[in-house]
Amino acid sequence: MSSTSRWALVTGGSRGIGRAVALELARTGWDVAIVHLRNVDAAADTVRAVHALGRQCVAYQANVAKPDECADVVQRMATECGPLTGLVHAAGLGALSPTLATRPARWQIAWESHVGGLLALASAAQPTFVDGASVVAFSSLGAWRVMPGYASIGAAKGALESAVRYLAAELAPRVTVNAIRGGPVDTDSLRSFAFFDDVDAESRRRPPGRLGRPDDIAPVAAYLLGPGARWITGQVITADGGFSLH
Ligand SMILES: NC(=O)c1ccc[n+]([C@@H]2O[C@H](COP(=O)([O-])OP(=O)(O)OC[C@H]3O[C@@H](n4cnc5c(N)ncnc54)[C@H](OP(=O)(O)O)[C@@H]3O)[C@@H](O)[C@H]2O)c1
Repeated sequence: MSSTSRWALVTGGSRGIGRAVALELARTGWDVAIVHLRNVDAAADTVRAVHALGRQCVAYQANVAKPDECADVVQRMATECGPLTGLVHAAGLGALSPTLATRPARWQIAWESHVGGLLALASAAQPTFVDGASVVAFSSLGAWRVMPGYASIGAAKGALESAVRYLAAELAPRVTVNAIRGGPVDTDSLRSFAFFDDVDAESRRRPPGRLGRPDDIAPVAAYLLGPGARWITGQVITADGGFSLH
């Protein structure tokens, strides 16, 4: 691989927001490694789409809830691609249940994938980050708004936003770390939630006028990874088309 490449690692890059981020980065001159869990066909499709944009792309299958798999992916990427200029944590999973009916294992998987994944990836990547590298993690409005059954994911997202601030302080001035607090975006995950129809209707009533699309939010991540955002760190940027304004 070329030593002049600017490489980003994007978790969740096979589908939804992560895939849109991978394509937006490719459009803006990045080479991309994606991480996904099990959907091999979707990952291969992202790789093809990035190649079609004239950029390099590799896919790694790994569970971001497992620190050793995160470390392994970062190590393989450093060996096969080169140093890391960007890290985007957009792997998402979770299921809904009322707060007090949520089993310990579900709180744990939410924590391990959303927060643990970010920490394990950042920790493994720290020695391979170039100076001026950037980390972006996806949070959601559910970090501070109540969404029915969303407690385990919402609490993990709240912790993720806090972890972003601590990481930003500790990695400064070499690496910036920010979070994007996304409003509803039409993806497989959102469609799997029981409140999908309600949130779809709410999005039409509220300022966005429609549900978000992955390509509405992906450019925010690309911006935060770019040189224009070098003075932004430790921040949570809400990107919801105005959904949360009232
Ligand atoms: N959609 C929304 O409304 C919305 C709003 C705000 C924030 N977000 C956040 O944005 C991020 C992306 O969500 P999305 O809606 O785009 O999800 P999505 O379309 O369902 O895609 C999920 C992606 O994450 C991967 N993934 C899931 N669990 C993983 C694991 N344990 N290890 C590695 N990869 C894993 C999947 O891989 P496979 O394809 O292999 O399964 C897939 O690439 C999440 O953090 C989510 O919380 C979403």
